[in-house]
Amino acid sequence: MAGYLPRHVAVIMDGNGRWAAMRDLPRGVGHWEGMNAVREVVEGACTAGVEVLTLYAFSTENWRRPREEIEALMGVLQAFAEKERERLAHEGVEVRVLGEIERLDERSLEAVRRIVETTRGGQRLLLNLMISYGAREEIVGAARALAAAACAGLLDPESIDEDAFRSALFTGGIPDPDLLIRTSGEMRISNFMLWQLAYTEFHVTPVLWPDFTREDLFEAILDYQRRERRFGRVTAG
Ligand code: FPP
Repeated sequence: MAGYLPRHVAVIMDGNGRWAAMRDLPRGVGHWEGMNAVREVVEGACTAGVEVLTLYAFSTENWRRPREEIEALMGVLQAFAEKERERLAHEGVEVRVLGEIERLDERSLEAVRRIVETTRGGQRLLLNLMISYGAREEIVGAARALAAAACAGLLDPESIDEDAFRSALFTGGIPDPDLLIRTSGEMRISNFMLWQLAYTEFHVTPVLWPDFTREDLFEAILDYQRRERRFGRVTAG
């Protein structure tokens, strides 16, 4: 792809419920269809040469959904890990799962462990699945960890700067997203990567997540390439 490539693309995968409702199907069916769009976007990211792909798969707020929908989402996670881990490893995709994963049930946790172990060391693409993730909780957790280290005498509070804070987040060591895509037309951040998105370009598409294809990803990247990123500065030249 010509032009500057985003190194890191993050996606708020939205619209599974509406996709199902339009077909008079239960919401869970929309989440299962959403799993196929994840395969599409992983292949598209590899083809385009993106280095990091971060997908918002389950938010801390999603724990408040009805029990059967949470079970459907956990079932999708387990099926994805089972179906995809060998293939992803073969493709050089390393999977990380970021969030408060200790809240997951034992079967889902086991699925997470297996996909992470099988794909460890993949060099082509880093795929972050954000599960039981909330940005405010992440920021509070980072502050708590830094405060605990300071209280234990391991850290001088004066030395806490942006880099120290960044490395205490779930995404420590990963560059910030260059491009954020949100599907289904909603103009919200929904408690997603509040620290990391400070200078990220947004692309909102009306496409519902289960209908999202690699061409939609390429369209978002082309849109990104038309932007001028200034990081708060004036135009160069
Ligand atoms: C938002 O749609 C989407 C989610 C809450 C879940 C996203 C999960 C997937 C795409 C399944 C794939 C997951 C993995 C781990 C591979 P919504 O239900 O809020 O849709 P609505 O706004 O139309 O109701």
